[in-house]
Amino acid sequence: MLMATTADELREEVRRRYAESARAVTEGTGECGCGSGACCEGETASADFGESRYTPEQRGELPDAAALASLGCGNPTAIAELHKGETVLDLGSGGGIDVILSAKRVGPTGTVYGVDMTDEMLALAQRNAREAGVQNVHFLKGVIEQVPLPAESVDVVISNCVINLSTDKPAVVTEMARVLRPGGRIGISDVVADDHLSPDERAARGSYVGCIAGALSKSEYEAGLEAAGFEQISVEFTHEVTDGTHAAIVKAVKAPVSDLKALPVIQSDATSACC
Ligand SMILES: C[S@@+](CC[C@H](N)C(=O)[O-])C[C@H]1O[C@@H](n2cnc3c(N)ncnc32)[C@H](O)[C@@H]1O
Repeated sequence: MLMATTADELREEVRRRYAESARAVTEGTGECGCGSGACCEGETASADFGESRYTPEQRGELPDAAALASLGCGNPTAIAELHKGETVLDLGSGGGIDVILSAKRVGPTGTVYGVDMTDEMLALAQRNAREAGVQNVHFLKGVIEQVPLPAESVDVVISNCVINLSTDKPAVVTEMARVLRPGGRIGISDVVADDHLSPDERAARGSYVGCIAGALSKSEYEAGLEAAGFEQISVEFTHEVTDGTHAAIVKAVKAPVSDLKALPVIQSDATSACC
């Protein structure tokens, strides 16, 4: 139960789960992750997650192992409309699929950073990027609640089915606002719950490490982004994952310099699953 588990224990459980997933891809014994089976504590494999969210053209740009390692619930590279020369940050970069696709979009004058806390995923991503022949990428070990990059250093933050796994979502949103340049944008895929579902009802629909129990509701997401100073916020459901939880596209823009006033400090509650 979430209530009886500390934030550190929960994060360690997430790390272990995705280390196992990276090993399964590396050893060819199948994937596990959000909504998929095998090593995922009874959740059923689902076309809602993974490489099926990418176009055949995009899959053609990827090494097989990168496509196989896809554990996301959407396609943030299709949301973020990346341009040549931009700097992109992928939060929870996993096997590197969105980093590789973004690197091809931003071209050699652009840079893509992937941040992940799981050594096995970082190793897999590095191997996949080498195999894909992209050089404008950097994989950084770290947590998305404390991004190892300076303030105002990126144009776009992307993420694919990771923020629901964070045990401190306000810290993640604050970090996105910190690292983005004024006017920078986010293009995120995530699992999001209907507003009427209580935390217990979310937990009844799927596990935390399986990307369901930790999902924010739509209005929690919107309020968290607004409190961090984001504008033009939209949270759009794309397809249902379980009864009342959905894959969603989350977009927002960091206020340009002229709009940046003293913003309220967001309280960070490490034990809360919600904003
Ligand atoms: C569901 S997988 C998604 C991976 C990738 N985005 C994709 O679409 O395939 C979650 C990834 O996020 C990483 N992760 C989860 N929580 C994290 C955190 N708090 N800080 C950094 N990485 C985290 C895991 O190690 C794992 O690689």
